[in-house]
Amino acid sequence: TATNVENKTESGESRRDFLLLATSAVGAAGVAGAIWPFVDSMNPSADVLALSTTEVDISQIEEGQSVTVVWRGKPVFVRHRTAAEIEQAAKDDSASLVDVQKDADRVQKPEWLILLGVCTHLGCVPLGQKPGDPKGEFGGWFCPCHGSHYDTSGRIRKGPAPLNLAVPPYAFLDDENVKIG
Ligand code: FES
Repeated sequence: TATNVENKTESGESRRDFLLLATSAVGAAGVAGAIWPFVDSMNPSADVLALSTTEVDISQIEEGQSVTVVWRGKPVFVRHRTAAEIEQAAKDDSASLVDVQKDADRVQKPEWLILLGVCTHLGCVPLGQKPGDPKGEFGGWFCPCHGSHYDTSGRIRKGPAPLNLAVPPYAFLDDENVKIG
């Protein structure tokens, strides 16, 4: 055992010291490994930011259709809104939606809705259709985990989710491409 080694010889003693040192080094590396991704995500370099963008060709997404793309490992909904949805969004205002509309691109292209597909309750991915509603009369997004409902603009209509779906940073590169991130 370690105690026997320690008691027997000088070299046993130094071996124990080595083992202690090695253990500390592994411990420190383990902690650094756990902290690094967190620190890195708080202070990303320009290279990391460039790599973490996702470009989406929106030319094939028809009115009334949504596609889901992955950005930084998370789902992002890109929806080509119908005229009725745009009208409804303008009529039925909410403070948090007004905030996100400060984005000039969004005001210029109201037909595009871009949302993080992560429920603001506990992070499940909301569905574009409620099960048992084949005609899509429900509208918006339904979270299968605890039943939250977001309207066609991603605004919360029924909890337990406390907030609207978040809007990721995005910019239109031209009429056919949008960059998320
Ligand atoms: Fe969506 Fe709970 S995670 S309602």
